[in-house]
Amino acid sequence: MIDINDLFVRYKTENGYANAVDHINLRIEKGIIFGLVGESGSGKTTLGLTLLRILPPSAEIASGSVNIDGTDILRINENEMRKWRGKRISMVFQGAMNSLNPVINIERQVAEPLIIHENIDWEQALKIAREKLALVGLGENTWKRYPHELSGGMKQRVVIAMAIITDPEILIADEPTTALDVVTQDRIMKLIKSLQREYNLTTILISHDLPIVSEVADKIAIMYGGKLSEVGENEQILRNAKHPYTSGLLSSIPEPGSSKEIKGIPGEPISLVNPPKGCRFYNRCQFASEKCKNYDYSPKIVEVGHEVYCTLYGE
Ligand SMILES: Nc1ncnc2c1ncn2[C@@H]1O[C@H](COP(=O)(O)OP(=O)(O)O)[C@@H](O)[C@H]1O
Ligand code: SF4
Ligand SMILES: [Mg+2]
Repeated sequence: MIDINDLFVRYKTENGYANAVDHINLRIEKGIIFGLVGESGSGKTTLGLTLLRILPPSAEIASGSVNIDGTDILRINENEMRKWRGKRISMVFQGAMNSLNPVINIERQVAEPLIIHENIDWEQALKIAREKLALVGLGENTWKRYPHELSGGMKQRVVIAMAIITDPEILIADEPTTALDVVTQDRIMKLIKSLQREYNLTTILISHDLPIVSEVADKIAIMYGGKLSEVGENEQILRNAKHPYTSGLLSSIPEPGSSKEIKGIPGEPISLVNPPKGCRFYNRCQFASEKCKNYDYSPKIVEVGHEVYCTLYGE
């Protein structure tokens, strides 16, 4: 269980602080695929980097806790954290498939972290690397290839193999399907699902793409402007969306075979630097009213497991 309490992470910028993760509470049960969805700039990557404590120097964890099986990983020292990072919690970084080393073949790239961090000899490390490559669907004929000899989907599999090389319990996959064609996106989602099923891997799946995430996620959290706007089971979000932003995301999804115009969400997201108080979605919301300007983000329970952050619901 990952228990995120009142997490507040901000970046120092020239114009003030950018509140990227703005007092967020989340609970992620063991073994599930947890989708974290929102437009670019909503704070998703920052949340992922916080769980590994690898934020850039301009970032500050201003408050909150992240409890994993009883340990607050924001409070342990750097030495302790090293035992978690990459080993118990691992991340497929946004765009990682484009930063593979062009002059090292893939089995060696996958094996390398074991040599550097685990003090394992090359022969043993290569054996483990090949097992992981096979596990993500890359057969023997690919192991000695170089990145430029692989398709985008294959490169994405390589970075997933790298992330699971030490058998982590938690995998954070940041935009793992961006820049891939639709068929390949689907295959990568199937891989993520199979890793969850076979290894009980708790997966935080970060994406701007709600339809892709909803193919495999058990639970989904929608982020907007550094805040949560809605959290629920996959079905609750898809069939019973309550937040106007979620509805907007859903109406941006074309129905198969339909010629219906895609509406999307008009307007631009607000800046996270010194955001106005109240609902972050205010300037884009067709239901906005005076009281939304003072909304304190107290969650409204719609049904068991389904929370919405919006003044339109319950008191
Ligand atoms: N290195 C940085 N320096 C300053 N501000 C940043 C930095 N990275 C992110 N931010 C701020 O945090 C916000 C959220 O960024 P990010 O977590 O990358 O969002 P997402 O992954 O949802 O696109 C951005 O809109 C920006 O305001
Ligand atoms: S709180 Fe108000 S402005 Fe925000 S999403 Fe709900 S109705 Fe719209
Ligand atoms: Mg991101």
